[in-house]
Amino acid sequence: MNYTILATWAREAKRNSYSPYSRFRVGAAVLTTDGRVFTGCNIENSSYGLTTCAERTALFKAVSEGERSFVAIAIASDEDTFTPPCGACRQVIFELAGNVDVVLTKKDGTYRVKKMLELLPQPFDGKNLKKTQRKKK
Ligand code: THU
Repeated sequence: MNYTILATWAREAKRNSYSPYSRFRVGAAVLTTDGRVFTGCNIENSSYGLTTCAERTALFKAVSEGERSFVAIAIASDEDTFTPPCGACRQVIFELAGNVDVVLTKKDGTYRVKKMLELLPQPFDGKNLKKTQRKKK
């Protein structure tokens, strides 16, 4: 699947955004290795910290359906600038999808592609936990 189509999925998903507080609508679409697409939108809460971003909604839907291998994630908002994933989402995308292509879009559908490791260099990941998990003698 080309990224123009993946970006369209993200833009469509934005239509379901539940964002009465920020009025900032976001949609995301993840592409699996076997060509499936899972979409998500941001879902806000009056207790602001409980808000879930579009990227995490899309990825959690995919992972909870058994998907473990991803190629790309596209992100769409209503802005004229390329909307990047927030820091929390970068951590979650890297955890679940690894060094995938991140398709940043403008509202007119134009996009540019970044690798996850460009957006999250020197990530904290499972490897960093190994030392503390060693059994004490
Ligand atoms: N938001 C996302 O959905 N993804 C991001 O990566 C950036 C922020 C949402 C969260 C909140 O609902 C709104 O955009 C404003 O921050």
